[in-house]
Amino acid sequence: MKPTYTAEVNHYLLGGKLVKWEGKHTKVYSSLKDKEGNPVYLGSVPELDSDVATKAVEVADKAYNRGRGVWPTMSVKQRIACVQKFVEEMEKYREEISQLIMWEICKTKADSYKEFDRTVEYIKDTIQACKDFDRRGARFQKESEIFAHIRRGPIGIVFCLGPYNYPLNETFCLLIPAIIMGNVTIFKPAKFGVLFVNYLMKAFQECFPAGVVNILFGRGRMIGPPIMQTGKVDILALIGHSKSAVALQDQHTNKNRLRLVLGLEAKNPAIILKDADLELAVNECVKGSLSYNGQRCTAIKVIYVHESIRERFMKAFCKKVDALNIQAPWEDGAFLTPLPDPTKPAFLSDLIDDAIEKGAKVMNEKGGEIGDNYVFPTVLYPVNKGMKVFQEEQFGPVIPVISFDDIDVPLADMADSDYGQQVAIFGENTDELGPAIDSLVNLVCRVNLNSSCQRGPDIFPFTGRKNSAVSTLSIYDALRTFSIRTFVASRNNELDNELISELTQTQKSKFISTEYLL
Ligand code: G3H
Repeated sequence: MKPTYTAEVNHYLLGGKLVKWEGKHTKVYSSLKDKEGNPVYLGSVPELDSDVATKAVEVADKAYNRGRGVWPTMSVKQRIACVQKFVEEMEKYREEISQLIMWEICKTKADSYKEFDRTVEYIKDTIQACKDFDRRGARFQKESEIFAHIRRGPIGIVFCLGPYNYPLNETFCLLIPAIIMGNVTIFKPAKFGVLFVNYLMKAFQECFPAGVVNILFGRGRMIGPPIMQTGKVDILALIGHSKSAVALQDQHTNKNRLRLVLGLEAKNPAIILKDADLELAVNECVKGSLSYNGQRCTAIKVIYVHESIRERFMKAFCKKVDALNIQAPWEDGAFLTPLPDPTKPAFLSDLIDDAIEKGAKVMNEKGGEIGDNYVFPTVLYPVNKGMKVFQEEQFGPVIPVISFDDIDVPLADMADSDYGQQVAIFGENTDELGPAIDSLVNLVCRVNLNSSCQRGPDIFPFTGRKNSAVSTLSIYDALRTFSIRTFVASRNNELDNELISELTQTQKSKFISTEYLL
């Protein structure tokens, strides 16, 4: 099969202009192979340099204009209209964007389209949530003879970087709330899953004032540091690895100016108690550890199973894993697919070898089967703390298993871990579940009862402790995260009351408004 869409990206978006790039380009290949066994060519993107990166900060700064720019001072109603127009434009490219995501990151066809649809829904829900915020701000509160008109205002320049596993959804879950709240943005697409942006650049250019959305292509290492070194970035919004987040923060020259919105790696455990419904636990652990080949921050990355049911669980789990096949993403019922990152098989192979060397065994028959663009899911047992696969986020189809007699074992490991996003706990005995849940909620930020971990529904808070996240995302929380409460205080006296009354009636101020957005 050949890709229906390819994209030669020759422009980047800067200060409202699509600027042609005459310099070096990076070729983009799928890890899917053609008939001759070569990776399929999908297009190319500019490899921008540090001069363009610095220029992007200049144009963003100009667009924000110290809070006096067109966008940060625009009424919420008008900003919402721009985002509405953008999402309508975006919807025209469902096919192109979903297909390119499927080819570039080898996500199944169903999930690639789902990523698109979920993102469109997220944007529409964000618009509604923004109206809701605005309605709550359309009033005056009175305390100690002071009236306060409190609203949420923008913060400034947002540098936004997304991940390759959800290149559209997770990136736009940062970008759109940042924009709608009146900030200006510099957006660098992920390492893989970049070509679809070509279909949206014109929409970004046409729907927003110049400089509000600036889109740069290239290597993070080349573009990130000069942007941060300007000291002018107000928010670093990054979904990726904590090491990249720390490296970028370290470049900032004015750290207290910098707000962090980070979705980072995780090591979410599944804990299977002795009375768990085994079939349910097996099914959820397969889905949780292997959806999109385990390349999800929310994936189950270690399984703790009670010793009394370990053998039965392992047998059923391995059987189910071995019944899977690696398929092309467009095939019906595809679940496992090739890995988009060419360095991944070697990385996972190293984790497997290290675990074997330190005493683990590959438990499933097809485990350890590695090709140049895939790794068959590999179940490892017994895994211990000295192994790399215990410490590091595998972000791929390798599943470490540990057995326990006492719930304190997984609880202690989780407390010692550098991560704290979610957990999945399987069991039916409330005497055991109750105290376990009370500990788990203080170690992670979502306890999934008898189901695998996941981010959605997007209305719920998505966050993590320690190296797993900074700040909370959800449709509602993201709007808070990308804004700050700011207010006008007026004394309850004749002069101030008259002024406020005039301002609300004449719309001379866009901030002071009691208009109720419907
Ligand atoms: O990679 C992390 C994603 O936020 C996971 O989202 O649970 O919907 O796959 P998901």
